[in-house]
Amino acid sequence: MGYRFRTDLKWSDVTPKGVFLNRRQLMAGAAAFGLARPAMAKIAAQPSAYSTDEVPNTLEDITSYNNYYEFGTGKEDPAANAGSLTVKPWTVKIDGMVDNPGDYGLEDILANVTLEERIYRFRCVEAWSMVVPWIGFQLSDLLARAGIRAGAKYVAFETLMRPEEMPGQAYPILDWPYREGLRLDEAMHPLTILATGLYGEELPNQNGAPIRLVVPWKYGFKSIKSIVRITLTDKQPPTSWNMQNPREYGFYSNVNPEVDHPRWSQASERPLGAGIFGGRVPTRKFNGYDEVAGLYAGQDLAVDF
Ligand code: MTE
Repeated sequence: MGYRFRTDLKWSDVTPKGVFLNRRQLMAGAAAFGLARPAMAKIAAQPSAYSTDEVPNTLEDITSYNNYYEFGTGKEDPAANAGSLTVKPWTVKIDGMVDNPGDYGLEDILANVTLEERIYRFRCVEAWSMVVPWIGFQLSDLLARAGIRAGAKYVAFETLMRPEEMPGQAYPILDWPYREGLRLDEAMHPLTILATGLYGEELPNQNGAPIRLVVPWKYGFKSIKSIVRITLTDKQPPTSWNMQNPREYGFYSNVNPEVDHPRWSQASERPLGAGIFGGRVPTRKFNGYDEVAGLYAGQDLAVDF
């Protein structure tokens, strides 16, 4: 089929109808019952089997202490500056080694995915941690529908490049656009999600609206925000932090208390919101998600850090 040359591709063109929970139908249902449409669309979602039962951080914590260098390097900068980003309409290009490459409207993707609320304990590399009730869907769902071609080994992700709305892109702190990558088996793991919301609402801009990656067993910087491109490839893709400082940031970046960052220990973390007397807690390997250990059988994770 000639999908390759179409730019107006709808996700439904490559997805069997009626199989998946349809967010648009849910919204239409709400309208039919006379419910006013809220300013931020509410997202109906079920808890995922992978959710932790740890108490989530407050919305205030999750949305006021962020890393998003396109909006400044301070932890308060994203909340102050990310409002300038236009997130509707949004298109995600899916290309490379897939059967159905194209430019997909986010609404069309969302109309056809299984949305499950997941609560993930999420630890950032600067040594704090938080528990976020993400709303998202498995990246594997999207990749399967894109049609992974034989020989694909990695998935590359890109954030948008839009210096007129992203003031941080005027400074060469990183080689923009922000880039990340996963090995295909990591990308297909059910814990790897694309998040489109948190706490029952669409993602706030500072958290990576309208769609961002969440890989809970890896340091926070792997979880790339505001994704506009997903590419299947047979080569390990370049990633922003590894390009910036390969000695400090490896491709894998699995949470690992046994491997120190060259400039600090990674053995403990500070749970955000615990207060200044809350203290630090020991960090667990793979952030406690032991089920991913098998992905790295036979690898020395001090070498493949
Ligand atoms: N994605 C983009 N595009 N730009 C960034 O600067 N920062 C990363 C990651 N994704 C970043 C990004 C880092 S260092 C972390 S710790 C997490 O986003 C923070 O996610 P949060 O602000 O939602 O907690």
